[in-house]
Order: sequence, then structure tokens, then C-alpha cells
Amino acid sequence: MEVKLMLFWICLLCFIFITAKAQMPGFVSLDCGGMGNFTDDLGIEWTSDNKITFGEIANISVANETRKQYMAVRYFPPDNRKYCYTLDVKTRSRYLVRTSFLYGNFDNNNVYPKFDISLGATHWSTIVISDANTVEELELIFLATSPTIAVCLSNATTGQPFISTFELRQFNGSVYHTEFETQFFLSVSARINFGAETEDPVRYPDDPFDRIWKSDSLKKANYLVDVAPGTEKVSTPMSIDINRDERPPEKVMQTAVIGTKGSLTYRLNLDGFPGSGWAFSYFAEIIDLSPNDTRKFRLILPGMPELTKAAVNIQENAQGKNRLYEPGYTNISLPFVCNFRFNSTSDSSKGPLLNAMEISKYVAINDGALDVMAINGLLSHYALADWAQEGGDPCLPVPWSWLKCNSDSQPRIVSMY
Ligand SMILES: *[C@@H]1O[C@H](CO)[C@@H](O)[C@H](O)[C@H]1NC(C)=O
Ligand SMILES: *[C@@H]1O[C@H](CO)[C@@H](O)[C@H](O)[C@H]1NC(C)=O
Ligand SMILES: *[C@@H]1O[C@H](CO)[C@@H](O)[C@H](O)[C@H]1NC(C)=O
Ligand SMILES: *[C@@H]1O[C@H](CO)[C@@H](O)[C@H](O)[C@H]1NC(C)=O
Ligand SMILES: *[C@@H]1O[C@H](CO)[C@@H](O)[C@H](O)[C@H]1NC(C)=O
Ligand SMILES: *[C@@H]1O[C@H](CO)[C@@H](O)[C@H](O)[C@H]1NC(C)=O
Ligand SMILES: *[C@@H]1O[C@H](CO)[C@@H](O)[C@H](O)[C@H]1NC(C)=O
Ligand SMILES: *[C@@H]1O[C@H](CO)[C@@H](O)[C@H](O)[C@H]1NC(C)=O
Repeated sequence: MEVKLMLFWICLLCFIFITAKAQMPGFVSLDCGGMGNFTDDLGIEWTSDNKITFGEIANISVANETRKQYMAVRYFPPDNRKYCYTLDVKTRSRYLVRTSFLYGNFDNNNVYPKFDISLGATHWSTIVISDANTVEELELIFLATSPTIAVCLSNATTGQPFISTFELRQFNGSVYHTEFETQFFLSVSARINFGAETEDPVRYPDDPFDRIWKSDSLKKANYLVDVAPGTEKVSTPMSIDINRDERPPEKVMQTAVIGTKGSLTYRLNLDGFPGSGWAFSYFAEIIDLSPNDTRKFRLILPGMPELTKAAVNIQENAQGKNRLYEPGYTNISLPFVCNFRFNSTSDSSKGPLLNAMEISKYVAINDGALDVMAINGLLSHYALADWAQEGGDPCLPVPWSWLKCNSDSQPRIVSMY
């Protein structure tokens, strides 16, 4: 009897534990090449991509790599076709799509692959593997305008195209709304948590949207170097009001750096730039300032004196302590090597403070082939045929294997084989 009761309680606890960890709606996490479903240490539920009928799977070998989602890859022939993952989305919703690539010498060939990745007809990036043991990760933010999206690999220049993971995360409200969102995707270059206590990123469950906020403690070439003397990390256990704009996680906002000598400076390389992009900083005053103290500072970007005019006064702008203030630029032109500085104003008694920042590059959306409606009408009659499953745009970045397209920027289908 007692044993039964105990089992009952244990089972109830299990149940509560499992439901507490239930997956966020709008999360899709594909373990490409993986053999089965599992839940990782963060509580993210991974599913195998074994419904995909093309490509081959292989195991990798990387010393010390224990994360199951990276242990296998799916890879594709280095031919002139494209290989696509198609997923359902909710139209008029914004999403983060994240893909990752850990080569790990899966082909026992030690040839570092180079290939292209596209979202629909739009070229997203060129994947260039330069280290067998390092995870390459890409993130893109987009507004869904149709009920499915296709992410495609193509154009192998060296080695064989492959993929380790494919994730979709859904945003809500107007998070990452921009006035350009029907013409441009946002390709994420930097999302940095300043004042981080460890090298670990902050992500789900601290961030309900599972964005990855990189630590400023990471040591990497051309990542947050040229740091001003007097830069100190600060943190608070107090809760932060983050309920506006991009809703950065509280944990990210609870830490910051302060330029105790009046300046904060950093240099970092911005993948994808030069170009025009979306750049925002996240501030919250997390230090008790005495009534006589002020913290006022200005952003200084080399060659852009016009940006320096506006002074930041976090408490005044956020209307209080421990509250988010998120100033930024919805369209700013940035170089690849980005130097930025915050200087306190002459009437400020305290140095500048920075909790987090995020920079994304605008990627112009390619509308793709002109005859999509007609061809999809045809395909709907053959939905189960292999040749009807190629996915993505009929013509871009390369045509389906049984089609010929012309070379217009919005191509037309000219013939079928
Ligand atoms: C894995 O998860 C997917 C999606 O939840 C489900 O459709 C599939 O049946 C699961 N597979 C196994 C072997 O449990
Ligand atoms: C990869 O490793 C798993 C587990 O060790 C094994 O079951 C599977 O057969 C391997 N797959 C390949 C393609 O070698
Ligand atoms: C693997 O882990 C060991 C022990 O923790 C460490 O000494 C070694 O440098 C690690 N190797 C790699 C490639 O990270
Ligand atoms: C394929 O990649 C090469 C080298 O990266 C590039 O020059 C070429 O334009 C690409 N081809 C297509 C069709 O995108
Ligand atoms: C958006 O999601 C956040 C985090 O899950 C939640 O706190 C918030 O209430 C949601 N907002 C809307 C408008 O649904
Ligand atoms: C604020 O400044 C006034 C005048 O300079 C001074 O008398 C007072 O002690 C200061 N208060 C604090 C809390 O520093
Ligand atoms: C941003 O500004 C540049 C230069 O003024 C312009 O060419 C571009 O179309 C604007 N919009 C986006 C989304 O890049
Ligand atoms: C910013 O502050 C530093 C150090 O105090 C100073 O050397 C530099 O000239 C200042 N820059 C500007 C543009 O005011």
C-alpha cells in the first residue's frame, strides 16, 4: 500500500516535471541525420529529420562533442541540384530560423565543404567550413508571407553540402517588426550579452524565444577587442521590466559593463557586412545612483558624427530604474570591421553602461520565379511523386531537376524535361 502511494507521488512528480518542460509552441528543432527523438539539457525537444527522403546520414567524430544533435549530419551530393527542407509556418508571424553545421570530418575526407544556403528563392549565405571541430551557426529573422518555408542547400564548390541542425522559433506581438520586413530578411550578425558572468550564452528557457545571446567573456579573434581601460562588469539580482520592443531576456538585462573612466570601446567583425542593417542597444539602469549622480553618454561611430548628437540617459529614457530602454537604428550603414564607443557627456558624473546589443544585416528578398502558382497547381496532382518533392522555388537559386528556367531576375519556366 505504502509503496503504491509512493509510486503514485513519484509519477505525479514526473508528470509535473514533464509538463513544466513542455515545448514552447512555435518551436521546431530538427536533428538532421539523427536517429530518434530526444529532449536536451535545456528542455528542447529534438526530432529526427528521417522524413526526408534524400541525402545520406553520417556520424561525425569531434573529441569532447557530446551534444546529441551534433553527432550526426545529413549530407547531399555535390551536384547542381538543390536540397530543401520545407516546414509549415503561420503567415503574418515573425520567426527566427537557425541552422548549424559541424563538419567533424563526417565523410572521412578532410575536405572542408563550401556551399550556399537559401531561404526560398533568396540567397541567405555561403557556408565556408574552416575548422572540422567548430560549429558554424546562422540565424535569420523573417516575416512569414506564405504557409510554408523552404531552406535549401546548393552549389557545392568544395566537399559535400551538409547540415547538423535546423531550428524554427516563433516570435509574438511586434517583436522584430520593421517597416522593411516584406522586402528584407534580417540576417543576425551579433547578439551580445555584456557583463556576462560566464562564457555560456543565454538562451531558452531564460529567453522564451530561444535567441542565443553570446557572452562578452568569449575569447575569439576579432570579437569584442580594444576594450577601454576601466571597463567593469556589474550585475543585479533585481527583476527588470523587459515588456516592450524586442523583449530581451531578464537574465541578459541583469548584467552590464560600465566604463568607469568615462568610455566604453569595442571592436568586432560583423559577418555579412558591409551593408545596411538593423542595430539596437539594450539598456537598463541596474545600479543605485545617488540623487546627485547622473549617467549620460553618447554613441560614437567613426565617420558618422551625425549619430553622436543624441545623448542617452537610461533612467530618464526608461522612466525608472531596472527598466528596458532600447534605442537604435532601423537602417544604418555599417562596415565589416565595426568600432564603436560610448563616451560620457561632460556633465555626467558616471561612466556609460551597456547591457546588450544586437546587429542584423538586411538581406533583400528575391520574389522568385513568375510561374509559381501554375507549377504548384500542376504539382498538387502529383504530391507524392519524388520529383514533386524538391521544394523551394522552381527556378532559384537553381531550377528543379526537371525544369529549365530563363535567366531573368524573376525567372520564367521555359521548359520541362
Ligand atoms: C518524433 O516526434 C515527431 C514529432 O513530434 C513525431 O511525429 C514522431 O512520431 C516521433 N517519432 C518517434 C520515433 O517517437
Ligand atoms: C551512427 O552512430 C549510431 C550510434 O552509435 C549508430 O547506431 C548508427 O548506425 C551510426 N550511423 C552511421 C550512418 O554510421
Ligand atoms: C577535451 O577535453 C579535455 C579534458 O577536459 C581537454 O584537455 C582537451 O583540450 C579537450 N579537447 C578539445 C579538442 O577541446
Ligand atoms: C556558386 O558558388 C560560387 C563560389 O562561391 C559562386 O561564384 C557562384 O556564383 C555560385 N553559383 C550560383 C549559381 O549561385
Ligand atoms: C509574447 O511572449 C512573451 C514570452 O512568452 C509573453 O510574456 C508575452 O505575454 C507574449 N505577448 C503577446 C502579445 O502575446
Ligand atoms: C549632493 O550634493 C550636495 C551639494 O553638492 C551635497 O551637499 C550632498 O551631500 C550631496 N549628496 C549626496 C548623497 O552625495
Ligand atoms: C537603407 O538605407 C540605404 C541607404 O540610404 C538604402 O539604400 C536602403 O534601401 C535602405 N533600406 C534598407 C532596408 O536597406
Ligand atoms: C571620448 O573619451 C575619450 C577618453 O576620455 C577621449 O580620448 C575621446 O576624445 C572622446 N571622444 C570624443 C569624440 O569625445
